[in-house]
Amino acid sequence: MRRNDKILLAVVVLLTLCWWHYLDSKPDLPLSTEIDADGLVSPQRAIMDGGNQHVVAEDLDQKDAKTKTILLWNDYAFIYQEKYEPVFQGCAVSACQIVTDRTRAKDMDAIVFNIATNNFAKECQGESPDCEIPQEKPPHQVWIFHTLEAPCQVFFKAHKNKDMLSNSFNWTFTHRKDSDVYSPLGVIEKREVPLQRDFYEVARKKKKLVGWLVSHCETPSKRELYVKELQKYVDVEIIGKCGKPCPYKCLEYVNNTFKFYLAFENSLAEGYITEKFYRTVNLDVVLISRSGVNYTELGILPNWHINTADFPSPQALAEYLLALDKDDSKYVPYLEWRNHYVSSRGLDKPYVSWCDLCAKMHESPRRSQVYSRQEIIDWYYPPGADRFRGCKIPSDFSGA
Ligand SMILES: *[C@@H]1O[C@H](CO)[C@@H](O)[C@H](O)[C@H]1NC(C)=O
Ligand SMILES: *[C@@H]1O[C@H](CO)[C@@H](O)[C@H](O)[C@H]1NC(C)=O
Ligand SMILES: *[C@@H]1O[C@H](CO)[C@@H](O)[C@H](O)[C@H]1NC(C)=O
Repeated sequence: MRRNDKILLAVVVLLTLCWWHYLDSKPDLPLSTEIDADGLVSPQRAIMDGGNQHVVAEDLDQKDAKTKTILLWNDYAFIYQEKYEPVFQGCAVSACQIVTDRTRAKDMDAIVFNIATNNFAKECQGESPDCEIPQEKPPHQVWIFHTLEAPCQVFFKAHKNKDMLSNSFNWTFTHRKDSDVYSPLGVIEKREVPLQRDFYEVARKKKKLVGWLVSHCETPSKRELYVKELQKYVDVEIIGKCGKPCPYKCLEYVNNTFKFYLAFENSLAEGYITEKFYRTVNLDVVLISRSGVNYTELGILPNWHINTADFPSPQALAEYLLALDKDDSKYVPYLEWRNHYVSSRGLDKPYVSWCDLCAKMHESPRRSQVYSRQEIIDWYYPPGADRFRGCKIPSDFSGA
C-alpha cells in the first residue's frame, strides 16, 4: 500500500470507530443543541440523483411531479446531515428535497419537528434558532410530528404552551409502524448471494458466555435489574460506561469473545427497537432481546434471536443459555441465518427512512387530516395501569 493509502485507511478506520463510540455514548435523547447546518441541496442535484424520475413523472400529474421541499425545523443531526445526501436516491418517489434553513419556512411543503428535545421550552414564534414554532402555518403546508424515541423519554406532554404547535400536526413520522410515515431504526435484508460461513467454527472460538455493552446505566425498562438477576445464574460481562472498559475496540471484542449478547432496549414501548439490536446482527453473537415490541411483526423471526419475553424469569433464560452452550447443534442455528440475511443500514446512513416520506408528500389525491393535541397524546402515550409515561412497566422478573 502506498503511504497515502495507509493514511486514508487509518482515517476511515478512526472515523468508523468514533462513530461506533458515538453510538455507544449517545444519550437516549438526541442532541438538544441546535446544529446549524446550512445544508441546502441544489434542486438540480436532487433531480439528477433521484433514482426513478421518469416513473414519478408518469405516475403523477404535472403539478405533483414538482420537487417537494421538506424543512427540518430542529435537532435533526440524528436523521440528517449533508453527508447523507442524496437521501432520496433509490426511492420509488424521489422528487423531494431536504432544507435546513428556517428563513425559508413559509415556502416549504412540509416542516418536520423533532419533538424529542429539551429545547421545546421557549415560547416565541419565528425563525430565530431559539423559537420553536414558525411564524405561521400556510394552508398548503404539512406539519410533521417526528421522534425516534420511546414516549417515556419524550416530554411532549410538558409542552403546555405549545397548543398552536401540538394541534397542528398533520402526520406522524416515527419508529412506530402505525405512524403516517414509518421509519424503522434498522433494516434486515435478504442477501442476494448467501454466505457459506461455518458457524460451528465460530462457536468453538468463543471464550465467554454473555456480554453486554452499555452506557445508559439506569433505565425505564429496568434492564439493569434484570441483568443483575440474570447474573445470579450465568456469567454476564458488562462493558462500557456501566461496566469495565473494553480490552480493545468494544464491538470487535464483543464479536470475538461472547456467545451471547444482550440487545436490551432502555424502554419497553410500541415499535421501539434500536441500533442496539440492528447493529449487532452483523456480529458473530447470538442476540438476546428485550423490548416492548413483537419482533415477528417487524419481520424479525423468532429463531433469529432469543427473546426474554419467551421466558418466565431471568433464571429460566439462564438455564436455556447454559443448555445452548453445551450443545452447538442448538446454538448454531441462531447464527446460521446470517448466511442469508444482513442488517443493511450502513453506518454512513441516517437513522431514518426518507423514502416513505417523499412518497407521501406526492400522494394524490391528498386526504386532509390534522391531529388534535389530545389525539397525539393518546396515541403516543398509551394509557394504562401497566404503563408509566406511555412505556410498559417491566414485570418480567421478581422485584420488577
Ligand atoms: C467478526 O468476526 C469474524 C471472524 O470470526 C470476522 O470475519 C468479522 O469480520 C468480524 N466482524 C466485525 C464487524 O468485526
Ligand atoms: C406477534 O405477532 C405474530 C404475527 O402477527 C403473532 O403470530 C404472535 O402471536 C404475536 N406474539 C405475541 C406474543 O403477541
Ligand atoms: C394540515 O393541517 C391544516 C390545519 O392545520 C389543514 O388545514 C390542512 O388541510 C392539513 N393538510 C393535510 C395535507 O392534511
